[in-house]
Amino acid sequence: MKIAFYDAKPYDMDSFRRVSDAYPVTIKYYDTKLNEDTAELARGFDAVCVFVNDTVNAAVIDKLYEEGVRVLALRCAGFNHVDMKHAYGKLHVMHVPAYSPYAVAEHAMALLLTSVRRIHKAYIRSRDFNFSLQNLTGFDLHGKTVGVIGTGRIGRVFIEICRGFGMKVLAYDKFPAEGLADGENIRYVELDELFAKSDIISLHCPLTDETYHIIDEDALNRCKTGVVLLNTSRGALVDAEALLAGIKSRKVGAACLDVYEEESDLFFEDNSGHILEDDTLARLISMPNVIVTSHQAFLTQEALDSIAETTMENLREWEARGVSKNELCYRNGNIEPAGCESCFG
Ligand code: NAI
Repeated sequence: MKIAFYDAKPYDMDSFRRVSDAYPVTIKYYDTKLNEDTAELARGFDAVCVFVNDTVNAAVIDKLYEEGVRVLALRCAGFNHVDMKHAYGKLHVMHVPAYSPYAVAEHAMALLLTSVRRIHKAYIRSRDFNFSLQNLTGFDLHGKTVGVIGTGRIGRVFIEICRGFGMKVLAYDKFPAEGLADGENIRYVELDELFAKSDIISLHCPLTDETYHIIDEDALNRCKTGVVLLNTSRGALVDAEALLAGIKSRKVGAACLDVYEEESDLFFEDNSGHILEDDTLARLISMPNVIVTSHQAFLTQEALDSIAETTMENLREWEARGVSKNELCYRNGNIEPAGCESCFG
């Protein structure tokens, strides 16, 4: 099988080279992202492998199909960047549903601790031999209430970590997990109550039409003054303009963002020599109580190895059976795991 691998970074190539040796595949690594202009690089390939900021819209899908590609292997969990409806009947789409929920949940906690204990400020000060403690006062996490939106794989690990810190958890999920709530320290509530009572809010739900801007001006108005917002999920869950206004008005106490709505042209690249055109991001980054990391929550060795292994297995399974257990299929208006051999007639 010939695979065109887009947006290849050295760390991706290291993990995929280690794993792919055991498979009868040829992988061509392109450092460019997939989009309308670069889709033709996949001519003559059976599969393309993409990450979160590649463009997989209708035009790209048509182009890939024309070039002979039949499989789209996402080396990520989220698929909000793929026009699934348009892909149906053209490309088999498979993803990596879980690689390391610990990587993302632990990064969320790392951001939270950095923020509330001002580690990002203290680190810079002590490198300059400035050992003053002025303005570094933080707050205990113990006894605080954390609102967790999305209690899937990552949300549940994050809740476990928060419980280790002695925090109370208010959870919200469209499909609550059985056996998670204990009626005392972990309770499922409606969003209104979560917004009103949480000291910290962490987002762990997917980006869908329903969750787009789930944190907007109205939501922030319903939050406690001083709320700390964590987003390690998808940028467009948060209305960045509303967040900036919330930071300026002091309604929001701090924000930790691993993802950003308009990240696709910026994140994963070194833009240090360029003028940042995005005024909202520039203003957010300039705030002392905002921490931005560039979609790195997944980036642990364990997660990279697991992504490479699952992606190669997905493709092997597809080649052997015409379908993979991690295939996503647009059927009857829903996106479901495929499992059916007859999807494509
Ligand atoms: P998951 O599928 O295990 O859990 C998602 C949860 O969100 C489910 O319990 C689901 O019922 C819930 N949900 C769906 N619609 C909802 C709605 N309208 N309102 C509230 N909850 C809703 O997914 P997992 O593995 O926990 O990942 C969560 C998200 O984390 C992914 O969708 C992805 O966007 C993000 N992610 C970010 C990474 C990073 O590097 N920053 C890496 C991996 C994932």
